[in-house]
Amino acid sequence: MCGIVGIAGNQPVAERLVDALKRLEYRGYDSAGVATLVDGKLERCRAEGKLFNLEKKLSEEPLPGTLGIAHTRWATHGVPNETNAHPHFVDGVAVVHNGIIENFSELRDELTAEGAVFTTQTDTEVVAQLLARFRREGMDAKAAMLAMLNRITGAYALVVMFADDADHLYAGRFGPPLAIGYGRGEMFLGSDAIALSPFTNDISYLMDGDFAVIDRQGAEVTDYAGKPVKRQRQISQASAFVVDKGNHRHFMEKEIYEQPEVISHALSHYVDLADHRVKTSDNVIDFKALRGLAISACGTAYLAGLTAKYWFERYARLPVEIDVASEFRYREMPLSTDQAAFFISQSGETADTLASLRYCREAGLKIGAIVNVRESSIAREADAIFPIMAGPEIGVASTKAFTCQLAVLASLAVAAGKARGLIDEANEKTMVRHLAEMPRIMSAVLNRIQPQIEGLSRELSKFKDVLYLGRGTSYPLALEGALKLKEISYIHAEGYAAGELKHGPIALIDENMPVIVIAPHDRFFEKTVSNMQEVAARGGRIIFITDEKGAAASKLDTMATIVLPTVDEIIAPMVFSLPVQLLAYHTAVFMGTDVDQPRNLAKSVTVE
Ligand code: AGP
Repeated sequence: MCGIVGIAGNQPVAERLVDALKRLEYRGYDSAGVATLVDGKLERCRAEGKLFNLEKKLSEEPLPGTLGIAHTRWATHGVPNETNAHPHFVDGVAVVHNGIIENFSELRDELTAEGAVFTTQTDTEVVAQLLARFRREGMDAKAAMLAMLNRITGAYALVVMFADDADHLYAGRFGPPLAIGYGRGEMFLGSDAIALSPFTNDISYLMDGDFAVIDRQGAEVTDYAGKPVKRQRQISQASAFVVDKGNHRHFMEKEIYEQPEVISHALSHYVDLADHRVKTSDNVIDFKALRGLAISACGTAYLAGLTAKYWFERYARLPVEIDVASEFRYREMPLSTDQAAFFISQSGETADTLASLRYCREAGLKIGAIVNVRESSIAREADAIFPIMAGPEIGVASTKAFTCQLAVLASLAVAAGKARGLIDEANEKTMVRHLAEMPRIMSAVLNRIQPQIEGLSRELSKFKDVLYLGRGTSYPLALEGALKLKEISYIHAEGYAAGELKHGPIALIDENMPVIVIAPHDRFFEKTVSNMQEVAARGGRIIFITDEKGAAASKLDTMATIVLPTVDEIIAPMVFSLPVQLLAYHTAVFMGTDVDQPRNLAKSVTVE
């Protein structure tokens, strides 16, 4: 994840900006830069690689100035080199950005047609070019910012500085976090409280759709229409060395809300978000030559693999043999060297998964590791590493790692289908475009469904048993929903293939057992509605998670209906994960359990 810092200071800022960037290193990056305003001129220093390189350059060419911005870049568009490093400059405008500008391609064409000359391969540069155009048209800094924020779409945190304005920094946020820090005669902006901890612990967090103008005395926050909004100031507990909860009560809640941002980073590693193509990488897994795929993992990671089984088999016609790692190697399944084996693990240290990897290695299979920790044991022993780039996941219940695993696996399934001649260029572009839209859709869903889910969770917390149902890729999600609920609220929950209801579980149905049905309006919808009728006919109470079309089509009375946007089936598992995660989270909060560290559980099970 990228890191952002800005200071409207009463003393030179360059060194303090770099210090703050050091506290954001945990987010991962591949280049960095600083810009300050010196006597009406924007000056900058940028470097590829680690902050050490930037510090070295700054020691040779110090940057004066008491107004400045800085950035650690995780490359999404454009290679990680100095040219593409932030801050980006265009005609007296300096910009640092975290996230993805989804409509950058169309804006780039529009601006180029007007004569703009682009010097980088990044999406960020369109923001600077757009601001420069609005300033040339006579807008002042504030008007130009609002005009720009109302033009761009995607998930972004932005901080901007103008050469003709020595007193203000400007910020906009939709998706990735951005905090304001209140100092004495100085003001700060940063990606999180950790970045600001050396300067102040008096902070407030911008919310999606906020526009902020800061000077050395304070901050003015409005929406994109310029209407003032109030953002609560709080005393942060963050210290420079711990990942902090931001403005959330638990790491799990923070990590649920980080998903749009981290998914955009995960995706950018596997697909080209501008041309909507999969990135062909020379990894050792040759999908074209494969006769089959074996997948093994544990818990939520296993359920990501179970979802991927549907994708690899449907889009790439690759037979997938999958099992939980604790069973996988004892089945002694017939393995052959024309199969590859994928191991999915957030920690990369799960003992059962590592043992299964070694079992497949001994059988001579090529090994792929879909992991969040690149230097983990599972990654080290794999032939190909597929990082999910979710950033540190502190909450024991896996959330952002799950959806990042799904995003990576979906990208790999499209790549496999393309390599095997089953997905043509038109379909590839369509599928990748759906993936690219995910961060924006997930941000919007998270902003909308929280109040309804919170109220519903209070109801759900009164029950002792809950059943989750789903078909197709909603079936692994039903299993995941049950796992989430049971592991953090301690309520007994089971996930079932909806079609299996009448083969046993229906005996459990009565008014004391809520049934959570996960059913986008896809090709299985009608069949799942019949299962819901079976539940309703027995006095069962239904919580229906569907989309607009599904809600309109179903005439059933429900305990609640959670309506999500209608999305393509390849991103439905990720988007429909959000209500499932939030339902478990808020129910656990009402139950008063230790949400981040549930009883008996460890974040990484390094024993078999
Ligand atoms: C997920 O919510 C659980 N905490 C657990 O099932 C976890 O997914 C499992 O232990 C696998 O961990 P890993 O991804 O680090 O291998």
